[in-house]
Amino acid sequence: MSLVLHEQIAPRALKPSLLELDGISRAAIEAHYKLYEGYVAKRNEILGLLDGANLASANQVYSDVRALKVDLTFAIGGIKNHEIYFEHLGGDGGDPDGLMRHLLARDFGTVDAWRADLTATAMAARGWAWTAYDWDEGRLFNYLGDAQNTFPVWNATPLVALDVYEHAYFLDYQTDRASYIEAFFANLDWAVVNGWVGSYQIPAR
Ligand SMILES: [Fe+2]
Repeated sequence: MSLVLHEQIAPRALKPSLLELDGISRAAIEAHYKLYEGYVAKRNEILGLLDGANLASANQVYSDVRALKVDLTFAIGGIKNHEIYFEHLGGDGGDPDGLMRHLLARDFGTVDAWRADLTATAMAARGWAWTAYDWDEGRLFNYLGDAQNTFPVWNATPLVALDVYEHAYFLDYQTDRASYIEAFFANLDWAVVNGWVGSYQIPAR
C-alpha cells in the first residue's frame, strides 16, 4: 500500500509593519509570531507521523489516531487563523471603504453596528471572533471561536480574524481585553480585507 506523503510547509514571513503597530507592542507581536511558527511545526510533525503510521494495521490504536487528528485540526486552525490575523494588521484602522463598507452596511445595518457586534463576540469568546462570508447564507456573520479548532463553520470564508486568546494581549494590556480590541481595530488594514473580498469574488449584489 502506498502512502500519501504530505509536503512540509514553512511559516510566512512577518510583515515589517507589524513591528510598528499602534498599541500592540513589538514584543507582543514577536512572541505571538513564535506561537504561529509552533503551529506550523506541529502541523508538519503530525502529518509526518500520520505518513509513517500504518492506519490499516489491525494493531492500530484508535485513541492515538484520534489524538493526532484532533491536534492536526488545532495546528492547521492555528495556522489559518494567524495568517489572516497577521496579514490584515499594519493598517490605519478607521472605517472601511470599498466593498467591505458596502457588505458590512448591507449585512449589519451600519459599520458601527458591525463593530459593536464583533466586539461583543470577541468579549464573549475564549479564542477568536471572525467576520466571515457564509456562502450558503449569502451574507456576513460574526462567528465566535474558542480554541483554534472550535467553532468554525463549513463553507464560510473568514475576512476578519480577531485573536482574543490571552497571549494576544496580556503582555500589553494584562486583563484589559477591551482596550486590546480597540487597538486591533485601530490597526486593521482595510485594503488587505478588500483585496480578499475581490479575490474570493464575494458577491456584492
Ligand atoms: Fe494567537
